[in-house]
Parts: sequence; C-alpha cells; structure tokens
Amino acid sequence: MYIEHLSLKNFRNYEDEEFSFLPKTNILYGKNAQGKTNVLEALYLFSIGKSFRTPQDRELIRFGAEFSRAELTFSDRKRRQKIEIILRRDRKKQIKVGGVVIQKLSELVGTLNVVLFCPEELGLVKEGPHVRRRFIDIALSQLRPNYYRLLSNYHKVLDQRNHLIKKVKFQGANSLLDTLPVWDEKLAACGVEIVRYRREFIETLETYAKKVHTEISGEELGIEYRTRVTTKEDFLEKLSQNLDRELEQGCTLFGPHRDDLLLTVGGRDAKTFASQGQQRTIVLALKLAQADLLFEDTGEYPVLLLDDIMSELDAGRRAYLAKKIQDKQVIITCTDVEPNLSGEQTKTIHIRSGAILKD
Ligand SMILES: Nc1ncnc2c1ncn2[C@@H]1O[C@H](COP(=O)(O)OP(=O)(O)O)[C@@H](O)[C@H]1O
Ligand SMILES: [Mg+2]
Repeated sequence: MYIEHLSLKNFRNYEDEEFSFLPKTNILYGKNAQGKTNVLEALYLFSIGKSFRTPQDRELIRFGAEFSRAELTFSDRKRRQKIEIILRRDRKKQIKVGGVVIQKLSELVGTLNVVLFCPEELGLVKEGPHVRRRFIDIALSQLRPNYYRLLSNYHKVLDQRNHLIKKVKFQGANSLLDTLPVWDEKLAACGVEIVRYRREFIETLETYAKKVHTEISGEELGIEYRTRVTTKEDFLEKLSQNLDRELEQGCTLFGPHRDDLLLTVGGRDAKTFASQGQQRTIVLALKLAQADLLFEDTGEYPVLLLDDIMSELDAGRRAYLAKKIQDKQVIITCTDVEPNLSGEQTKTIHIRSGAILKD
C-alpha cells in the first residue's frame, strides 16, 4: 500500500500544508526542530489513531489553534481511500474512514498499515517489558483486528479487577471479594486467548527476523514469548493461590499484562549483553520482519516510516536497508539528503518551520 497525499491544518507546527508522496522513496529533510518528525507523527496517527510521541491528542493541535484537521489518501491493491482526523481541544477526536465516522479505534486499525523505525525504538531491547509488549500489541493489531478488540476487552476487565482489589485493600470492602470469581473467569478466558495470539505471532515473526538478522550480522537472533500463564485453569489457579499477595500489592499479578519477550543473540540475553550496534540490528530485524509478515499475511507491504535513523546505522546496515526497501514506499526523515537512497524514484521534500520550502 502507499500513501498518496497528506494535508495538515493546524497540526503541530503546520498551519496549512499539503504533501504528495511517491510510491517509492520520499525524503523529508531539513534542520532540527523544523517539523520533519511531525509529518511522520501525523502519518502514524492514521494507522493506529494515536501518536507515537504522546498519549495526549491535544498536544498535536497547533499552539493557539482550537482544532486541527488532517486528511490522508492512500491506495492499496483493492482501492483508494481517504481518512480524515479532526482534533479538538475540548472533545474526543473524530475519525472518518471513507467519509464515515467511526465509533471505535478498532474500526481504524488495520486500514492503513505503517511500520515505524525511530531512535526511541532502540529501547525495545533494553527497556522494560511494557515496551516489548507494546511492539507485539501494535504489530498484532494491524494483522488481526480481532486481537485489538480482545486486548481492549482484557484491559477493561483488568481495570475492574484492580479497582476491586484496591477497594478491598484500602477501604476494607471485603464483601466485594464474593464477586471476584466472576472477574477472574473473564480475565482468564480473555488472557489465555491473548497469550495464544501472541505466541503464534512471535513464532512466525521469529523466522522472518532471524533471516534478516543473520543477513545483516551473521549472528543468530532468538525471540521467545515469556508467560507465566499457560492454560485457563493454570491462570485461575495462580489467581486464587496468590490473592493475599495481590491484596497486599493492590493489583493483579498474573496475566499477559506481565509477559515479556526474551531476545537473544547467539544464545545470550540481549537485554544484558547486546552492544549498541547489536541492539540496532535487533530492532531493524524486528521491524523489517514485522513488515515482511504483514506482506505475507495480507498481500500488502506496509508503508515504512523511518525517523532519523540513517545516521544511527553504519554503512553496511544502511546499504542493507536501502536494498531491502528499494521497491517499497518509504517516508524517511534526515538532516541531509541520504546518498544511499537517492535515485530516480526518489522524492525529496525540504522542510523549514512547518512548511515545504520550494528549492
Ligand atoms: N502543538 C504544536 N504547535 C506548534 N508547534 C509545535 C507543536 N508541537 C511541536 N511544535 C514545534 O515543532 C517543532 C519540532 O518539530 P519536529 O517535527 O519534532 O522537528 P524535526 O524537524 O527536528 O523532526 C518544534 O519547533 C516545536 O516547537
Ligand atoms: Mg525529528
């Protein structure tokens, strides 16, 4: 699939600007703090309905403006479609897909698929488990819209159960414990489904990522999904056996919201042993694998959004990446036009203070 056009009104530092993209390489270049990442942020917003930089939609509205409007046209093999997003300071955002207002984000996710690679993503290897769960959850939601619904459901039940546990802990509302089995049942039913989806996804992702990783570095990458709840019975048993601890800590201690990915290079735990260079290779392999998998599964290669990463990669990895993406749509930001990427099918867009500079 590819993005044809983006229009931004009062979005971040853009007052009113229009972008046309080629189906191949598009380079947004310019000095720091001019608005390059803001464009990728807008594009990403159309994919999962949320920014990758902030959970607060309000921050996306241009300083001093009351609302913001972004419009995007993309094409895939089946059709050409328009998505529109309106952000207001005092209201929930409104999203229209093909002219129709959607009620839930689950109706948007999976429509336009993008894979983002930015410097912050390097935290995927070294940071806490929630970063790796987020990666799985976004990738899986693009692939399986049902997963997104399942996950929202799980989080609702989890919030209710945590709320109940806190009430017992802080207000001594012990009688509430009678209703706990109902929540446990829901949590376990939903939870094991999530684990099943994630395991299957990780197994497939691993084959793709291993291949890319070996091609880049010659080293073997391993990805393993780590969970402490295998079956529904097991999940329910853990919950009932650890209720005292849960009441002590005031939250639910078991379930897919505590799971993690174990990443290894040459059999060693990457979290403790991987060098900066190795971390970059792992993340690159994971992201390219995510894109390959989407392609195999849906027949559409996602749009790649690369934020300022060329300078982070050495010559070998840059060349590998350039070759791998040469016939796909890529929208990339950098401070200087990247020689590895310039070619006949490349469009360069010069950005300065929230506008395209005609040069
Ligand atoms: N809501 C907003 N309204 C107006 N300007 C904003 C808003 N949010 C961020 N900016 C401005 O956007 C610029 C940063 O844009 P960014 O795309 O991150 O830059 P870069 O070109 O370095 O990627 C900064 O000048 C910042 O002040
Ligand atoms: Mg930037």
